[in-house]
Amino acid sequence: MSIPEVPIALVTGANRGLGFEISRQLARQDITVLLAGRNRTRGKAAAKRLRDEGLIVQFIELDVTKPVQIKKAAAEIRRRYGKLDILVNNAGISIDGAHGRNSTATVSARALRKTFDVNFFGLVELTQRLLPLIIKSGAGRIVNISSILGSMTVHGRAGGMSYKPFAYDASKTAVNVFTIHLAAALAGTNVKVNAVHPGWVRTGMGGPGALLAPEEGARTAVRLATLGADGPTGKFFSGNDELPW
Ligand SMILES: NC(=O)c1ccc[n+]([C@@H]2O[C@H](COP(=O)([O-])OP(=O)(O)OC[C@H]3O[C@@H](n4cnc5c(N)ncnc54)[C@H](OP(=O)(O)O)[C@@H]3O)[C@@H](O)[C@H]2O)c1
Repeated sequence: MSIPEVPIALVTGANRGLGFEISRQLARQDITVLLAGRNRTRGKAAAKRLRDEGLIVQFIELDVTKPVQIKKAAAEIRRRYGKLDILVNNAGISIDGAHGRNSTATVSARALRKTFDVNFFGLVELTQRLLPLIIKSGAGRIVNISSILGSMTVHGRAGGMSYKPFAYDASKTAVNVFTIHLAAALAGTNVKVNAVHPGWVRTGMGGPGALLAPEEGARTAVRLATLGADGPTGKFFSGNDELPW
């Protein structure tokens, strides 16, 4: 099979919020976007909205906690395109510590597991499964949507961040260490792996009082997804600022 020249991107949790906007901004750069979502009706409607804007966007069914769907998505991408240039691991949930309450002493094992299933285990499994296709790209880019709340440095500072939903924060810390380890594992290849804090964004998760519109929140991820060969790998960014792990 001949490998298509058009860049192909997969964005998880893309039927709404940041994932939807990241998909839109990537597709505006003439990238073919596979808009992944766990609900077919909502996902197809979201992809159609972007196609109606003249963009090349296809829906792909993908609940990141379902290994069967991960395998199926990888097989479909292999068959259709033979490679993957950009993976944006965006799907995420935040179910503990309402309003930023420190839930460390009380969070249930169930909530911890559920959060890690989506935010960490699903992300790792999907990335590993897609890696052979990403390596086939001449310039693979993996962008992990993390959060400043995953920064141990920030939490460890005296008088630092008071917002401490433990399951969510720990899952993002795990995403951060995955980012550094994977970047090290891929050193010497053309694949770059970086983590992003999008800012506090007006989405279902961020709420209506958040500071940034989704268009602004999506920008860091889009920049890292389209980095040139001289760009960084194994780093954590918000805008152009490098964040501490
Ligand atoms: N908003 C912020 O201020 C903020 C700040 C820092 C980091 N982030 C991170 O940014 C990312 C996107 O968040 P958002 O603000 O756009 O949140 P959102 O509006 O709540 O959207 C979350 C997306 O993830 C999807 N999702 C949840 N569980 C999934 C699963 N098992 N498989 C596949 N998709 C799943 C949701 O799908 P359904 O529609 O089917 O539920 C939805 O599309 C998350 O990783 C979040 O942690 C957000």
